[in-house]
Amino acid sequence: MSNTDGIHRIGILTGGGDCPGLNAVIRAVTKTAINRHGLEVWGIEDGFLGLIRNRMHRLAGEDVSNILTQGGTILGTSNKANPARFATAVDGEGNPIFEDVTPRVLEHVAERHLDAIVCIGGDGTMTCAADLARRGVRCVGVPKTIDNDLMHTEITFGFQTAVTTATEALDRIHTTASSHHRVMVVEIMGRNAGWLALHSGVAAGADVILIPEIPFELDAVCEVCRERSRRGKAFTILVVSEGAKPKGGQQVVERVIKTSPDPIRLGGIAPVLCRRIEDETGLESRATILGHVQRGGTPVPVDRVLGTMFGHKALDLLLNGRHNELVVMQQAKLTSVPLESVAGKQRLVPADHPLLEAARAVGTSFGD
Ligand code: F6P
Repeated sequence: MSNTDGIHRIGILTGGGDCPGLNAVIRAVTKTAINRHGLEVWGIEDGFLGLIRNRMHRLAGEDVSNILTQGGTILGTSNKANPARFATAVDGEGNPIFEDVTPRVLEHVAERHLDAIVCIGGDGTMTCAADLARRGVRCVGVPKTIDNDLMHTEITFGFQTAVTTATEALDRIHTTASSHHRVMVVEIMGRNAGWLALHSGVAAGADVILIPEIPFELDAVCEVCRERSRRGKAFTILVVSEGAKPKGGQQVVERVIKTSPDPIRLGGIAPVLCRRIEDETGLESRATILGHVQRGGTPVPVDRVLGTMFGHKALDLLLNGRHNELVVMQQAKLTSVPLESVAGKQRLVPADHPLLEAARAVGTSFGD
């Protein structure tokens, strides 16, 4: 057993939207902590909600055996639980009343004798973790999200699985598009970042890819469809990121979840765009929203490997006194950055990204 820097019992939580590979991290942290360092590991249920409500249970090695290939998270998750701004009641008009319940969280951390917490999540989870760290709780972060939009890391686990799922769906759309000579508009997740749409669109050979970072012109998009039709290519595959918007226009909001720290849920641009294209071009069009299917299922091998490496590194940081940092991948090497530096930020596709240039060179339109 090793020197554990005064850490005997750790908590682990998964926050925000789930994604494939979470269980690989939970397994890596738990097995390494127990087998290598003789620590106790406590699984906190449903992200920060478990800390607010004092819901957690001890994890044994057998609890994390056989979970490497499972999608989702065995701990559960929530994207409505920021302790610093937690909805505890509603006012007369049905609006939530927020309260800072961090003191309650600190009590539970002390009561359960948690010496440190591994927080697996995206920018929202890291905001909560950074806040707890400021109030004296030793935290370390592990970056997850299918959106791949966390600052300072070139990859988050879950992204490659989502790219694979979206690409497989686009390949299927391709055959039906070509049989029916239609314009197929496929909506991909990603919030304000176009990574998932860009990668799956390029992988599937989409004719048009619309991402939030490049506002599009409807006329340019319609012209691609018409031009393909004139050239005898009687179908078009159009991938649209849920956060894409026309030049001078707005994103399409699917719903506003008032109790969520990140209340806006984007979605619904595909049917809107599909109708506009059909009206403008006279070409028969159909819309598909891939939705949460992109977040589910078995992680691809690369995400299992990343999850294992990230989990191992998180523990390594904690036990070497490097608290309040996030594990990141930079230039294909594992390293770490302060939690503060990623909290509440999003990494977008830069205008000079080489994949944009490569896609344009093979004839892909970005609608600009
Ligand atoms: O951040 C991951 C993500 O799947 C986004 O791509 C999407 O906009 C959002 O979560 C959907 O959130 P919810 O699970 O609340 O529907």
